[in-house]
Amino acid sequence: MLRIVDQLRMVPEVARLAVRTPRNAAVAWEGYWSRVRTTGPAGEVLWDAEIGAEAEPYAAVMDEYMDPSMPVIDVGCGNGRWTRWLSRRFPQVLGVDVSASAVQRAGDESEGVRSVAYRTLDLTVPGAGRLLRAECGDCHVFVRGVFHVLRPKQREQLGRNLRDLVGARGRVLLTETNYRGNPLSYMQSLGARPGSIPAPLRRAIGGIPVPGHFGPVERRAALPDSIWTVLADGPVLIEAVPMSGRTTTSIPGYFAMLGSR
Ligand SMILES: C[S@@+](CC[C@H](N)C(=O)[O-])C[C@H]1O[C@@H](n2cnc3c(N)ncnc32)[C@H](O)[C@@H]1O
Repeated sequence: MLRIVDQLRMVPEVARLAVRTPRNAAVAWEGYWSRVRTTGPAGEVLWDAEIGAEAEPYAAVMDEYMDPSMPVIDVGCGNGRWTRWLSRRFPQVLGVDVSASAVQRAGDESEGVRSVAYRTLDLTVPGAGRLLRAECGDCHVFVRGVFHVLRPKQREQLGRNLRDLVGARGRVLLTETNYRGNPLSYMQSLGARPGSIPAPLRRAIGGIPVPGHFGPVERRAALPDSIWTVLADGPVLIEAVPMSGRTTTSIPGYFAMLGSR
């Protein structure tokens, strides 16, 4: 039961943590990743759960809509867990992330994995998509958990870069959290209580931009129907690391498979 009185009692602690987050998003992400010491299900990174049932709808739409002979760019790859998963399905995968420390960690965690590479890059910078396309040609794009942490203008710019990347043959598979309640009820749903905020959530509140939600309406604003065709979309459960004694944590999300017109 999500009690409003508990939400109000969490406000001072959440405000104390949030005030530490740098205003510049790129600086915030680098600061966050540079302090990460452990990843995976028992680690410090909120969204870095072991890949399980969440991947099933992605695999199904990939089989249906993505040419398996094309390369993939994993935008906002973090420590590369999904980049490595993608490398089992596609011949070449490039993970890109705005944080150099994330890219370093992704490389370290991917030792011995063939056909993955990583690069530090801000995909909200105009022209970034064109530059990558010049190197890789038409490619697919996988994006998990990036649009929802961007401001509306940055979402639009990321959308333009993705358009440049996919060309005529590539597809975008995006998957984002889409919790519709207020930020405090969101924290409660992840196990936060007054005086007790799970450690991975505490690190996120005190280190990275506040997440928004991202569903069909937000998708249309960032990736308009005049430019993109929706091949498949729907709700999904995004898996996060176990918190507060739970064995799994699932967050309501939204996924979409898109092609350019
Ligand atoms: C919530 S995490 C998701 C990481 C990874 N996709 C996953 O699902 O495990 C968001 C990631 O996006 C990266 N990011 C944020 N803004 C970005 C940008 N403008 N360009 C590239 N990466 C970005 C962050 O550094 C972070 O690693």
